[in-house]
Amino acid sequence: MFKLCSPLFLIVLLSVLTNGNCHEFSRILSKKAMGLKREKLSHLHFYFHDIVSGKNPTAVRIAEAAVTNRSATGFGLTAMIDDPLTVGPESNSKIVGRAQGIYAQASINDVGLLMVLNFVFIEGKYNGSSLSILGRNSVASIVREMPIVGGSGLFRFARGYVQAKTHNFDLKTGDAVVEYNVYVFHY
Ligand SMILES: *[C@@H]1O[C@H](CO)[C@@H](O)[C@H](O)[C@H]1NC(C)=O
Ligand SMILES: *[C@@H]1O[C@H](CO)[C@@H](O)[C@H](O)[C@H]1NC(C)=O
Repeated sequence: MFKLCSPLFLIVLLSVLTNGNCHEFSRILSKKAMGLKREKLSHLHFYFHDIVSGKNPTAVRIAEAAVTNRSATGFGLTAMIDDPLTVGPESNSKIVGRAQGIYAQASINDVGLLMVLNFVFIEGKYNGSSLSILGRNSVASIVREMPIVGGSGLFRFARGYVQAKTHNFDLKTGDAVVEYNVYVFHY
């Protein structure tokens, strides 16, 4: 038991009082105390499988413009995706994560997709960590660049960009395999 006037008792009493009364809105933290040491630059490489055909599509159309006003470019078309990300381009290649989110045709005169995606990884130390992508995907360009706007887990404080390059597009089914190179700063 504490003695009522012992220094330890007073410290405990003081901390109870201050915690109870002080609702702090903001404060400055040290990077060290947060475990943030050196910022690293990582490169990730994988293939994104956008499967729109067959019994188990991973990209499904969820909205489109009214039929009477459909534009030649499909302006307004919106899809929700949960696309596998794999080490190699083959469909049975090892899965390292998934791309979950939305892409929408946001350009009236050409094909320019608004991409709002979370890359959720399951591979090794990246398991459970994610990167968030928000950008324009001008599908007709050979290489499309999109910003990384943040991340979670191992990718806290992430910033950077991704480059997407179509590896294979099946004109008959509409299925696509896209090569992704990711360049990301994180701690
Ligand atoms: C379609 O476009 C026409 C004119 O271009 C417009 O009058 C009409 O309101 C539009 N309909 C819809 C559903 O947006
Ligand atoms: C990833 O983490 C989850 C839960 O933390 C675990 O169940 C799963 O087995 C892990 N996957 C891999 C590939 O390590």
